[in-house]
Amino acid sequence: MSERPIIVANWKLGLDHNQSLVLAGQIANDARELTANAHIILSPSATSLSKVVQEFGDPAPVSFCVQNVYSEVIGPFTGETSIAAAQQLGCRYMIAGHSERRRLFGETDEGVAKKTKLAIQFGVTPIVCVGETYEERQSGQAEIVVSNELKMALGNLEVNENQQVLIAYEPIWAIGTGQAIHPDQARLMAMVIRQQLVDMFPDPIVQNFILIYGGSVDANNIRDFVDGRVIRGVLVGGASQNFDDFKALVLAATNK
Ligand code: PGA
Repeated sequence: MSERPIIVANWKLGLDHNQSLVLAGQIANDARELTANAHIILSPSATSLSKVVQEFGDPAPVSFCVQNVYSEVIGPFTGETSIAAAQQLGCRYMIAGHSERRRLFGETDEGVAKKTKLAIQFGVTPIVCVGETYEERQSGQAEIVVSNELKMALGNLEVNENQQVLIAYEPIWAIGTGQAIHPDQARLMAMVIRQQLVDMFPDPIVQNFILIYGGSVDANNIRDFVDGRVIRGVLVGGASQNFDDFKALVLAATNK
């Protein structure tokens, strides 16, 4: 992994297929400039993955990520997405346990753990999301909640020396609200996460875990979060879903 900041563009269900292809085409056109500034990981909806990947040629200057997969690889699971298929389409990353999935679709810690393990079996880098609600932060529970989510997602995980795992700290109340957490608080939580990982994984494997922040990141605040040491990148929803905002964000990541 290069030292460029990591920018995961989570398009969620924010774009239809045609819009996804337009945005992918715009990013592909400017790929040289954009990828000089950041390691860009595009996460379109599953139905558009294949065509979005095709916009970039081979080898692609950006990476691709599936927003979710099912915790089984194959079988009678109508409507689900398979890690095997995502990997075959070119995804090197998978988001596990995004708070929207936990909150709206009943994703459990057990499911997150299974998917994370599965991703690793398929050589896909999981992006494991953790984060507290506003009430949990107000009542002083944020650190416990995040530590517990990490323990449950990563508890039985075997990580080899070549396998990376991204941990996205995303305070739930900061997602899609335009109200990012204060960068100092994000850095404090990053330390808590780092300590939890040190408790769970031996050195040097623990170095394979990379922390990123998500929640209302845009061109104006990205530099406050990405410091290249504790927080190495961002997971971006809203500001990744139109080209002008996204380009401004990527260029701002390295202050150009
Ligand atoms: P946001 O979303 O940037 O729109 O807050 C972040 C996320 O959901 O990962």
